[in-house]
Amino acid sequence: MAEKTEEKEQSGKPDAGVLIRADNLVKIYKTKETEVLALQGLDLSVEQGELTAIIGNSGSGKSTFLNMIGGLDRPSAGSLFVDGGNLFTMSEHELVRYKRSTVGFVWQNNGRNMLPFLSALENVMMPMFLSNSRKKKEKATELLEMVGMGHKKASRMNMLSGGEQQRVAIAIALANSPKLLLADEPTGSVDTATANYIFDVFSELNRNGQTILIVTHDIALSKKVKRVVAIRDGKISSERVLKEAYQDRLAETGIDWRSEDTQDEYAVLDRVGRLQLPQEMIQGLKLGDNKVRVAFQDGKIVISGPEEASASEEKNGETD
Ligand SMILES: Nc1ncnc2c1ncn2[C@@H]1O[C@H](COP(=O)(O)OP(=O)(O)OP(=O)(O)O)[C@@H](O)[C@H]1O
Ligand SMILES: [Mg+2]
Repeated sequence: MAEKTEEKEQSGKPDAGVLIRADNLVKIYKTKETEVLALQGLDLSVEQGELTAIIGNSGSGKSTFLNMIGGLDRPSAGSLFVDGGNLFTMSEHELVRYKRSTVGFVWQNNGRNMLPFLSALENVMMPMFLSNSRKKKEKATELLEMVGMGHKKASRMNMLSGGEQQRVAIAIALANSPKLLLADEPTGSVDTATANYIFDVFSELNRNGQTILIVTHDIALSKKVKRVVAIRDGKISSERVLKEAYQDRLAETGIDWRSEDTQDEYAVLDRVGRLQLPQEMIQGLKLGDNKVRVAFQDGKIVISGPEEASASEEKNGETD
C-alpha cells in the first residue's frame, strides 16, 4: 500500500475526477536564432465536468498550453496528465489514439478539419470511421441538432456562413465523444450575436456534463463562466470565480452579463508559494527598485514598498 502511494507521488499521477493536471509545465520553442519560453512553469488542475475559460494577452501562452493538452505539441519540462495519460511518456502510437478519442479541438478557423465539398452531416461522420455506418449517421444527426444545425445537415460546408461552419466544427469535435473539448478562440471571427449563440452551445454542452477548456479574448463572454484563469507570461496569474448569486442563473436570458460584476477575482499561489501581483497594484506601491517588504500582520500577509514600511515602523516607534 505504502509502495503504491510512493509510486503515485513519483509519477505525479492525479486523483480520479481530475481530468487535467499540469505541474510546473514548461514549453520552450527553439529556432536557429532564439529560444522562446512560451510556458514558464504553469500549474493548473481541471476537474471532470468543469467549464474553464483561459484569458490572457496575445503571446501569453494560451494556444501553446491548449496545444500541449491536445497532444499537438510536446511539453519541454514539468508534468502534464490528461485523463490519466502522461503526455510526456506517451508513445507516438498512443498519442494518435489520444488525439482521436480523448480530446476534441475547435479552432478560430476550422478550415483544416473540414471538407468544403461534403455536407455538414458527412463532415461530422468523417472522424467516426471506426463505428458502424447506421450509428454514425444517427449520432452525427444528433450532434448537428445539438448545435442548432439539424436543418442544414445536407448543406455543403462551403455554402454555410462562418458562424454556421463554427457550429458544425463543434459537432465534428464531439464526433468521437471526447472526454475533453478544447476550443481556441472559437468565437474570434464571428459577430457578437453569433459569438453569444456559440457560447451558449458550449454552456449547454457543459450542463450535460462535457468538460470544456476554452480560450477567449472576449472578456464579456468570460463573465458567464464559473471559472476563468488568466495566463501572464506563461504562468497562471489569477483566477476569477463566478459569484454564488449567479451560479444558478446561467441559463437566464434577462441578465446583462456584459455590464454586471459577476465574478470574484483571486491571485494564484503556485506550488512553491510564488505569486504574481497585478501590474496596477505594483505601480500603486511606488517602488524605487524591485524590493518589497512582506510582513505577517493580524493573520494577513501585507506587502508594502520599503519606504512605506519604514515610515510606518517609525510611526509605531513614536507611539511606543
Ligand atoms: N511554433 C512556434 N515557434 C516559435 N515560437 C512560438 C511558436 N508558437 C508560439 N510561439 C511563441 O510562444 C509565445 C506564446 O505564444 P501563443 O501562441 O501560445 O500565445 P497566445 O496566448 O495564444 O497568443 P494569441 O492571443 O495572440 O493567440 C509567443 O511568444 C509566440 O511567439
Ligand atoms: Mg493563441
